[in-house]
Amino acid sequence: MNKKKIKTDYQKKINQLTKFNKFYFDRSKPVVSDKEYDDLKKEILLLENKYTFLNSKYSPSQAVGHKPSKNFKKSSHRVPMLSLSNAFSEADLKNFEKKIINFLSKKEGSEISYSAEPKIDGISASLTYINGVFEKGLSRGDGKEGEDITRNLFTIKDIPKKILSKNFPEEIDIRGEVFIQNSDFENLKDKFANPRNAASGSLRQKNPEDTKKIPLKFIAYTFGFEKGLEVDNQFDYLKKLSSWGFKTNPLNKLISGVKNLIQNYDDIEKTRANLDFDIDGIVYKVNDFDLQKRLGSVANAPRWAVAHKFSSNKAVSEIKDIEIQIGRTGALTPVAKIKPINIGGVQVSNATLHNEDEIIRKDIRIGDTVTVERAGDVIPHVVSVDTSKRKKTSNKFVFPKKCPCGYETIKEFNKITKKYDAVRRCPDRSFECNRIAKEKLKHFVSKEAFNIDGFGKKIVEKFWELNLIKLPQDIFKLDYGKIENLDGWGRLSADNLRYSVDKKKQISLERFIYSLGIRHIGLENAKLLSRYFGSFQKFKNLPKENNYNDLLNIDGIGETQLVSIKNFFSKEINLKILSELDKVLNIKNAKVVNTRGLLKNKSFMITGKLNNISRAEVKSLIEENSGTTVSSVSKKLNYLISGEKPTKKKIESAKALKIKVIDQDEFLKMLNKTS
Ligand code: IVH
Repeated sequence: MNKKKIKTDYQKKINQLTKFNKFYFDRSKPVVSDKEYDDLKKEILLLENKYTFLNSKYSPSQAVGHKPSKNFKKSSHRVPMLSLSNAFSEADLKNFEKKIINFLSKKEGSEISYSAEPKIDGISASLTYINGVFEKGLSRGDGKEGEDITRNLFTIKDIPKKILSKNFPEEIDIRGEVFIQNSDFENLKDKFANPRNAASGSLRQKNPEDTKKIPLKFIAYTFGFEKGLEVDNQFDYLKKLSSWGFKTNPLNKLISGVKNLIQNYDDIEKTRANLDFDIDGIVYKVNDFDLQKRLGSVANAPRWAVAHKFSSNKAVSEIKDIEIQIGRTGALTPVAKIKPINIGGVQVSNATLHNEDEIIRKDIRIGDTVTVERAGDVIPHVVSVDTSKRKKTSNKFVFPKKCPCGYETIKEFNKITKKYDAVRRCPDRSFECNRIAKEKLKHFVSKEAFNIDGFGKKIVEKFWELNLIKLPQDIFKLDYGKIENLDGWGRLSADNLRYSVDKKKQISLERFIYSLGIRHIGLENAKLLSRYFGSFQKFKNLPKENNYNDLLNIDGIGETQLVSIKNFFSKEINLKILSELDKVLNIKNAKVVNTRGLLKNKSFMITGKLNNISRAEVKSLIEENSGTTVSSVSKKLNYLISGEKPTKKKIESAKALKIKVIDQDEFLKMLNKTS
């Protein structure tokens, strides 16, 4: 197929999906079944994977859902919906209070009382009641103008439609938060990243019948325009709200003094995971309405209120269970299953406990209250345990001594540190432990290894369970007829998979070596080995030649790697895998490096710090120019490059062996370069 034809086909599919989206989101009238819709989405994604030149801003890989419908009518807020400024520390809070005291020219140290309200992370809405009847509901929008979502808000049970209380104002905009409870979110978590997104998505459905299907809740906390509201402080207003039939936050409190605000904040942060709704901080509002009026607002935030936010990468939760996961190298990794908690917008329910020693060191137990941290892309981990929250009946966690495959695990003795490893492992029995085998296969198809499009971890799991793949070579001999008939598959997706797999039958030697998942042979070492062997046949013949020790001449390969390589080749099954893969793959020889360069037949070693050039760069310069690098001072070494603070012993032994010791400049001169 030519590029043009591929592009038109792709565009056709995108147009079709956009049309389906319009019908579904704007007109609430799906024109295809969910399955057809999902299939189309999958086809688009597969095409994009296959042909990297394809892209569209309307592709499901780009667009997050569908842009909010333009069909809601806009309407102005009679009193703007303000936002809040944030505080993150005790100092911020002190500053907030100080400014208030100054503004009101009160005496330093004056007590101000605040309504402290846990800040629910949802979508705010303003509900207009006229003579006790819910007439109109607006979203916040930009604060001045919102969308008329009355019909959707009408479906929410927590929103009273008619209020008969005598003291209810003649006219009032009741404001509060629409949200989804965590327990209800459980059923929606495949579709949305967090409860807030789920609430927002449901509230924006064009058809109120769709909104009705989602159990949205409403909690009231403030008001906008009002006529006839007889109350002079926030806390009394909250009480009124509940007497009128609105839900208010059960954790609202009246508090004075920054110290007490902090105490309350700490208490609530610790019990956050036990709440059935997400909170991302606590809102403090000066309680007295007269003071609020005097304070007024700056820009679009009031001077009389602040949101004291929780840390966005840490949260307190409870360990419900500890599961043991088995990795590719057989390492047993304990993982804490925690009560789901929102950390910086992501719902976290797993946190790694690293290894057995870590559990012992921190004495982590099931049922413990723990602080979990999620920073950047790293896996969330347990930082600390709050032992004061521990029940008397709690028991120490007993780390299993057996792998789920039934085999006894071991702790290896590290010859270098002269200590036992912190990690417990299921011994590598070459694809006999089904846990390890599955992980090895996941590694085999992973991005840096064979990188087979559309062949992810889930497919490995599934094909493994179905006995379709047990060993790496099985991946290249798949029964596509069978796959086509699997649930969720079809002719097209099976064909696409075949295409992706076939495309990867040609592979470079270094990627191939890396894919084997030999312990301690990562990307860098695989590259070194590939250069050393040059061809797959030479690599495969290593056990026959039995010249393992020569590998130690490769700078970067040490005793640890050597033992691991020997171990790999000592297993019959691995030799069989190599010969089977040899039959189905075309493993390309390593690129021949220039053998006639300026540094031909010269070997180098570096000691000390170099200037403006990394060791890695020097190494590749040497290799590019046909030289070699070695890792120890021996007769084989020709030049020792000495940088700042070199290792004395290396210099001494080099001198003793009459090896030339040169500096960075001298080295660069050999290449006709200057630094
Ligand atoms: S009062 C002028 N009270 O926080 C005061 N807001 O960043 C503005 N929120 O848009 C609102 N709980 O969505 C207030 N008890 C509470 C709140 C609360 C949550 C949200 C609301 C608002 C945002 C302000």
